[in-house]
Amino acid sequence: MRVMIVKDYDEMSREAAKIMAKQMKTKPNSVLGLATGGTPVGTYRELIRMDLDFSGLTTFNLDEYYGLGPDHRQSYHHFMFDNLFNHVNMNPERVHIPDGRAKDVKAFCEKYEDEIKRAGGIDLQLLGIGRDGHIAFNEPGSSLTARTQLVALAEETIEDNARFFDRKDDVPSFAISMGCGTIMEARKLLLLANGEGKADAVAALIEGPITSQITASVLQMHPDATVIIDEAAASKLKRRGYYKHTDRLFRDLEEKGGR
Ligand code: F6R
Repeated sequence: MRVMIVKDYDEMSREAAKIMAKQMKTKPNSVLGLATGGTPVGTYRELIRMDLDFSGLTTFNLDEYYGLGPDHRQSYHHFMFDNLFNHVNMNPERVHIPDGRAKDVKAFCEKYEDEIKRAGGIDLQLLGIGRDGHIAFNEPGSSLTARTQLVALAEETIEDNARFFDRKDDVPSFAISMGCGTIMEARKLLLLANGEGKADAVAALIEGPITSQITASVLQMHPDATVIIDEAAASKLKRRGYYKHTDRLFRDLEEKGGR
């Protein structure tokens, strides 16, 4: 796992956008896995600013609140169009976001998995992390091999996400979410985290044991995972100095065209 510790949210967003832009330029028909929430907003803003070509891309989002239709202001569907797709030349027909209104959820989840396979698999999956260590909505105790499924949100997640809703009671209790097994099949993973509130989860993800209690810890088993975190989110890591040192070495090598 490559760990990049940066100064703040803006630098995290710029570094993440650089990695995503590189993927898009190297493979214009890339399949990107996308995330929502507060963390990736700056990265999307940066991608819009870079004026990149999105026309050949296919995208799959990690999750959607169960019960919310695409027009609901707090749906992740709405979020994605508002924060990214409405501002770039993305073909809406190649945008995939779980259908929060699916009648037959099981059949829908199987179809979602099939669509990812038919698209050739995800090249680069962007991820955030919850305070309880979740990726997508794979809450503590969720299987590390799970596929896309209906999941119940943890109380902590409902509290955290209440900031996007008028009232806490409006936050849906369920979501349709890619499973850790789905996420682990992406060729590259890019997880972002910022702020002190994420420091415990980040320490557990990078330095803790691999456990379904911190589903993000499954990234330790991925052959190509990068984690970009700001100083505050990195504050509880024991080997901060080591990560900074190796990151500097890799950056030097990259500048010389060695990677
Ligand atoms: C969002 C998602 C979640 C968030 C996580 C962090 O699609 O899958 O795992 O990445 O809850 O949310 P923020 O970025 O709002 O702190």
